[in-house]
Amino acid sequence: MALIGLIGGTGLDHWGDPPREVAPETPFGPPSGPLQFFGETLVFLPRHGPDHDIAPHRVNYRANIHALAQAGVSGLVAVNAVGGLHETASPGALVLPDQLVDYTWGRAHSFRDGDAGPLDHVEFAQPFSPDWRARLLEAGCVAGEGLVDGGCVGVTQGPRLETAAEIRRLERDGCTLVGMTTMPEASLAREAGLPYVCLAVVANAAAGLSDTPITMSQISATLARSMQRVRRVISALVEAETQ
Ligand code: HPA
Repeated sequence: MALIGLIGGTGLDHWGDPPREVAPETPFGPPSGPLQFFGETLVFLPRHGPDHDIAPHRVNYRANIHALAQAGVSGLVAVNAVGGLHETASPGALVLPDQLVDYTWGRAHSFRDGDAGPLDHVEFAQPFSPDWRARLLEAGCVAGEGLVDGGCVGVTQGPRLETAAEIRRLERDGCTLVGMTTMPEASLAREAGLPYVCLAVVANAAAGLSDTPITMSQISATLARSMQRVRRVISALVEAETQ
């Protein structure tokens, strides 16, 4: 039976009351919180900590991925709240991007930099596992929750939201989504040899694309509704893995 690693983002800091918790130490320090085991098929880690107090640029991505790899996961499903830049990414949509552009800086972002481990250059042309994207698409069908197949997430530094000009630049770069946490998580997973897929939850139209300013209350309300759908998709995925 395969153990799925689920990394929860903003709006999904809690999966349930875990029957078992493990607080691992790693060579990179502690992860965002204890690993929460739900039977033999699901281990949950809230990226921003159980109390949602770790900013995107302060997440210890290396510790998180190391801890999940050590737990023996067969792959990682990452849930990310994002802004939408495209008609396929309107607020409330659940999107499985197939590409990303990394605009982050200054984050400890590698296990293979000649310091944390031997220098290596991992292949990353397809940052998200096609196999796990297909599994999630299928889980979406089973759960009756349509997922948008494809998109490009631009990953910004945060924690502030973007300017309208930055969003226009992302559009020119081909981004359809904008978030703050997919990198270096996705490339660390690749370095660790773990299939990784991003389930992006569109919380708002990106900066400058709507007539009204983005508010946190609007984001929270949209995420609260959408995370019910995410739970159904993930439950269907876990169910499929159990059979
Ligand atoms: N930009 C970046 N990250 C986000 C956004 C956004 O508009 N909404 C939710 N996460």
